[in-house]
Amino acid sequence: MPKWIIYISLALGYKAISASKRHPFWGERTDMKKLVRDGIEQLVPYPPGKPIEELERELGITGSIKLASNENPLGPSPKAMEAIKEKLSTLNRYPDGSGYYLKSSLSEKFDLPVDQIILGNGSNEIIELTIRTFLNPGEEALQPFPTFLVYEKIVRAAGGKMISVPLKDFNIDLNSMKRAIGPHTKVVFIANPNNPTGAALSQKDLMAFLQDIPEHLIVVLDEAYIEFVTDPEVANGLNLLEHHPHLVVLRTFSKLYGLAGLRIGYGFSSKKIINYMNRVRQPFNVNSLAQTAALAALDDEAFVQRTLELVRDGLKQLATGLKQMGISFMPTHTNFLLIKAPLGGKATYERMLREGVIIRAMDSFGLPDHIRITVGLPEENIRFLKAFQKILEEEAHA
Ligand SMILES: Cc1ncc(COP(=O)(O)O)c(C=O)c1O
Repeated sequence: MPKWIIYISLALGYKAISASKRHPFWGERTDMKKLVRDGIEQLVPYPPGKPIEELERELGITGSIKLASNENPLGPSPKAMEAIKEKLSTLNRYPDGSGYYLKSSLSEKFDLPVDQIILGNGSNEIIELTIRTFLNPGEEALQPFPTFLVYEKIVRAAGGKMISVPLKDFNIDLNSMKRAIGPHTKVVFIANPNNPTGAALSQKDLMAFLQDIPEHLIVVLDEAYIEFVTDPEVANGLNLLEHHPHLVVLRTFSKLYGLAGLRIGYGFSSKKIINYMNRVRQPFNVNSLAQTAALAALDDEAFVQRTLELVRDGLKQLATGLKQMGISFMPTHTNFLLIKAPLGGKATYERMLREGVIIRAMDSFGLPDHIRITVGLPEENIRFLKAFQKILEEEAHA
């Protein structure tokens, strides 16, 4: 056979092989489903709410109020705002990677050693750190359902499996949770008080649960709303640390202190657990303005008291108005209310939007007949009640 035929055959063969190797990961034929890690294809992106200004422009309305994300309606802590002004000129520097001053202040406030405290870019980041530190792909986490949607998202994104245990009469069913623990369970999530119900577990029940479950489990006790609790029977994670060796208690500056936009939360656990999580943590995970604001906010007792009073009075105002309308709602230990919506959650959300009141439909939480609203300023609560009554009356006359 002439040599040139051999050369051409080899060249054509090489081209075919290299093209087939590239498929399906390169060029136009890239199959993204094969490119992403296992399990990512099935995740749904967090629905990105439009900015209020954009919604208003589209609907041709002005002066909307937002009661959708359990934020503080009073704004941020004034002391925090003052403190970050002075910090602005240092933004050329990286933040303090150890969070020295804030952790020292938290340590003093809660009488806990500094090495049992971790800071996060929102408490959400500490959920993520816990999972990345402890959950191997294929292992299971357990949660009540409905609860905060972020737990499942983080577990599944890490290749874990989430087992959901239904609430019983809107309360976390600790007995069923205990029964659902299996050989592959590694992490247990409990939001106390729970979002979106506002219900809370007692110290007695939660302590018994923690003492009963296998010691090796990592228990994430999310206390994002704990500061709003007034009932002394409700569990407090700080008093539970000694009752389970692997308890991670989460707190946030997003709610009571009004710093949701800065993203800062903190966690308490054993020295060993915090040490492992610090190995996974990015060195500068909490920005410098957030650290400065949080430090000042911790000391802003006047703002804390104003917020707690506002929430307490607002809940009474909303409860009275809803009862007058004959609408049922869950008793709450938080700054939000889960409300039964006779028109259905989604339709209520859409119609309230047109009235300039932004609330949260609960279909993504598996509660299509409910809405959740955050306690607002007194005038915002009135606005909600009036708009809610209006849409109910419109429906009755339709
Ligand atoms: C149960 C629960 N945990 C945590 C958070 C948010 O935490 P952060 O803003 O600190 O990330 C929320 C906010 O809605 C929540 O409801």
